[in-house]
Amino acid sequence: MVKFSSSFPLWLSLLLIHGYNVLVKAQWPSEGPIRFYEFKVQNTRVAKVCTSKDMVTINGMFPGPVVYAQEDDRIIVKVTNETPYNTTIHWHGVRQKLSCWFDGPSYITQCPIQAGQSFTYDFTMVKQKGTFFWHAHVSWLRATVYGALIVYPKTGVPYPFKAPYEEHILILGEYWLQDVVELEHETAASGGPPTPANAFTINGHPGPNYNCSNNDVYQIDVVSGKTYMLRLVHAGLNVESFFAIANHNLTIVEADAEYTKPFTTDRVMLGPGQTMVVLVTADQPLGRYSMAMGPYISAKGVKFQNISSIAYFQYLGAVPNSFSLPAKLPSFNDNLAVKTVMDGLRSLTAPVNVPRKIDSELFVTIGLNVQKCHSKTPKKTCQGLNNGVMAASMNNISFVKPKVSVLEAYYKKINGYFTEDFPGVPRKFYDFVNGAPNSIPNNTEAVMNGTRALVLEYGSRVQLILQDTGTVTTENHPIHLHGYSFYVVGYGTGNYSPQNASFNLVDPPYMNTIGVPVGGWAAVRFVADNPGVWFMHCHLDIHQSWGLGTVLVVENGKGKLESLPHPPADLPRC
Ligand code: C2O
Repeated sequence: MVKFSSSFPLWLSLLLIHGYNVLVKAQWPSEGPIRFYEFKVQNTRVAKVCTSKDMVTINGMFPGPVVYAQEDDRIIVKVTNETPYNTTIHWHGVRQKLSCWFDGPSYITQCPIQAGQSFTYDFTMVKQKGTFFWHAHVSWLRATVYGALIVYPKTGVPYPFKAPYEEHILILGEYWLQDVVELEHETAASGGPPTPANAFTINGHPGPNYNCSNNDVYQIDVVSGKTYMLRLVHAGLNVESFFAIANHNLTIVEADAEYTKPFTTDRVMLGPGQTMVVLVTADQPLGRYSMAMGPYISAKGVKFQNISSIAYFQYLGAVPNSFSLPAKLPSFNDNLAVKTVMDGLRSLTAPVNVPRKIDSELFVTIGLNVQKCHSKTPKKTCQGLNNGVMAASMNNISFVKPKVSVLEAYYKKINGYFTEDFPGVPRKFYDFVNGAPNSIPNNTEAVMNGTRALVLEYGSRVQLILQDTGTVTTENHPIHLHGYSFYVVGYGTGNYSPQNASFNLVDPPYMNTIGVPVGGWAAVRFVADNPGVWFMHCHLDIHQSWGLGTVLVVENGKGKLESLPHPPADLPRC
């Protein structure tokens, strides 16, 4: 808990972990101080929801340590792997200007850090501030390996809203009793859908709705009349979530670490990979109020956890163990509730610097597929729809991670690991949302496996239309792009067509993860001015495992500070 106004610099300095020799030079000139951290990846015994198990943590903490910095600071984190599992850390939302080597997705920008090895991440928060998070980017380790990354404005620069009395981090998560690496292997081997989480969690605590969890509750103590800043982070794996506080309004002021116009609502929706800052004023009678996280499920026919995680918003002076007032969450399939939150996201300052002329127009379909069963033990390994194997794809290509990182293969010109032929448009245009020819039971196998990259020239102005398809089921997919933020200039339901689309080029939000509406589309724009290999994928891990992703290769430019530097000496080997 940081009491922002008075104790912030002290906190920052206390949190700095004393230095060691810096071997790697940051390529982007950094003006700010350096923030050093040490992350030990460890197996830690944790007891939750009536069961104890070993799980992977950073420094034995769950959620992991908060990384603090200020805008333009350089951050150096030495990660040492003391577990038998492969690992990497991704700094979600950090644009990694000229530092693609430190982005973290396994087999995209680096090989995993193997047991006993270490790797030092080194990057600069170039013109970035706000609420970020870090997470493991290997198998499903993100289920337990995650934490917040908070970047304050430069000293003397205030927030664009009244300074809150206190600020708090709330990380939404999903918790399994089972080992998550095992769970992932089992799910992949089954060909079918994943097992739902045993519990949702807020800052690692499931709260009183689950067995043995009456005392495993996160609580914020509040003073009547004060305003609190809550930094929400969605670190969950496979489910999008609603969040609400009983009887209290939430004013959204930041989304994906960019300020937004204040927008007041009584609930928000976050997909995995999204962050949001809300202000809450303790303006209700003294009492204990629930803060609740519950599922948003837009897909048809999936099993899910329907018990919400509860934390307490506890007024000082209220009877300590009083009954807590329940929060009203929208029902699990309330698409309209999602749309109203999205409609409220506008960038704070206008007009924004969104590209108006476009050099590269991309149209990418996203969705699920079913592949034919080729197994001799179909009962075991083909548990997908119609006795098939579940898959997912972009433009009918199901992404396969290569055996070395795409970035290394690209940089060192090693052939055979990826091809540069990801299609900029789908093979055919049809009624993507409602119909044939790509829907069950007709032609669900129209998907090819491959590691195909889409190459963009340095500086190209890109428009990307993401179109959900009805193959298997329509669904809201949180699509995340590494290395960039993009302006969300439009979205809607049904099939995208330039005639029915109206774009906001004045104050669109600047995000890194966009929940493409269920059975709909989203249009985003950005300038490809950061060279490297950037993963773009659905942040629902099950979809990522099934292949819902691709990579964008952005070439070097010709000017100064427009080329990707050499890889660091300690880059892990496969
Ligand atoms: Cu938050 Cu590719 O990840």
